Amino acid sequence: MIVCSCNVLSDTQVRDAVAGPGAAVRTAGQVYRCLGCSPQCGRCARTIRSIIDQALGSACGACPLECPAAAGHAAAAE
Ligand code: FES
Repeated sequence: MIVCSCNVLSDTQVRDAVAGPGAAVRTAGQVYRCLGCSPQCGRCARTIRSIIDQALGSACGACPLECPAAAGHAAAAE
């Protein structure tokens, strides 16, 4: 599904950018840069943020308890 009509980015591309090997993509701006484009109208930023959160959330739990990302999620939940 296309989530950014200006840059014709799909949800799969966003997920791949976040979950790719060695990926350090954590913001919508980083997703645009990673995919070789830049924000135009900005309407997709919330959707991209949501996809990033889902992708990172689903990855969390697969890592050991001492994972810094897991500690960040625990602190945010408090
Ligand atoms: S829809 Fe993504 S920048 Fe316009």
